Amino acid sequence: MDGLDELRKSWLDRIGGASDEGTLEEFRVAALGKKGEISLKMRELGKMTPDERQVAGPALNALKDEVNAALTAKKAGLADAALDARLQAEWLDVTLPSRPRRQGTIHPVSQVMEEVTAIFADMGFSVAEGPQIETDFYNFDALNIPGHHPARAEMDTFYTHRAEGDNRPPHVLRTHTSPVQIRHMEAHGAPCRIIAPGRVYRADYDQTHTPMFHQVEGLVLGEDISMANLKWVLEEFYSAFFGVAVKTRFRASHFPFVEPGAEVDIQCSFEGGTVKVGEGDDWLEILGSGMVHPKVLEAGKIDPTKYQGFAFGMGIDRIAMLKYGIPDLRDFFASDLRWLRHYGFGALEIPAVHAGV
Ligand code: PHE
Repeated sequence: MDGLDELRKSWLDRIGGASDEGTLEEFRVAALGKKGEISLKMRELGKMTPDERQVAGPALNALKDEVNAALTAKKAGLADAALDARLQAEWLDVTLPSRPRRQGTIHPVSQVMEEVTAIFADMGFSVAEGPQIETDFYNFDALNIPGHHPARAEMDTFYTHRAEGDNRPPHVLRTHTSPVQIRHMEAHGAPCRIIAPGRVYRADYDQTHTPMFHQVEGLVLGEDISMANLKWVLEEFYSAFFGVAVKTRFRASHFPFVEPGAEVDIQCSFEGGTVKVGEGDDWLEILGSGMVHPKVLEAGKIDPTKYQGFAFGMGIDRIAMLKYGIPDLRDFFASDLRWLRHYGFGALEIPAVHAGV
């Protein structure tokens, strides 16, 4: 049959050059479809003599098979190439650093509270809590601070308002953690060995005062608890907290809820303009303490002829600033915490993988 070679070459070339499956399909229809070029040639077989047909038939069938095979092969080749292209385009580099995420960390004051709690827990103390909005009774009266006492004014108390005509004394935002002493005595009696960490409030604002700050109260009651026990507990605590042996100095002082009362200083050095705890010959005032006043024990329904003990109250923010070298208390609550990194606060270090973010 004439022209079969050209036909063969022309279809194989076109199929070889096809660049997508759509074109291949068009070629298949144009060559092998009902009215395709090769199909039409097959129809001519009918008009041939048997001898001619015997030559042309197998040749045409072979051509048809060859073109079919070329179409199938090319289709597979295109699919492979498409997959390769996708693999290239959608390749994922799993060694790339992850996208930066905002880092959350525990607040330095919370961390210090946990440190404090852990150290006291080692000495057998458990944790007590009380409300931040207190009654006048628990915050003052039960602690031997009567209405006329100057301590009420000195504490810069925040008072809540009562409705018009309601003459009960207003609630207060607790000015110290000492009311937890009374609540705990009432609920659990003596003996006891607790700390009460938490928020307290006073209307005051400067470099070392914020209207909300944190204290930890200590209360230990027993039949023969003395100030010697207080001194040991505090030195043990400060040494563990600051990681150096810390001496304490007791100065007689007055708080209505203790008798005798003492302010406690810790040994430090102010040399070179920075405070170093546990070295030098200077002293830094750090807390108030004393032997619980018999009237306070009575307010807590404890028999003062049977039990006695000590109490202390210290500022948590203060010792956090000292330990981590933070100069301004307001940085804790009123500023961007990232500033704390400048003071080398370890808890705020970013893991290396996110460094520079
Ligand atoms: N509550 C006192 C204050 O806030 C501290 C203190 C507690 C003093 C317990 C003595 C005993 O200043």
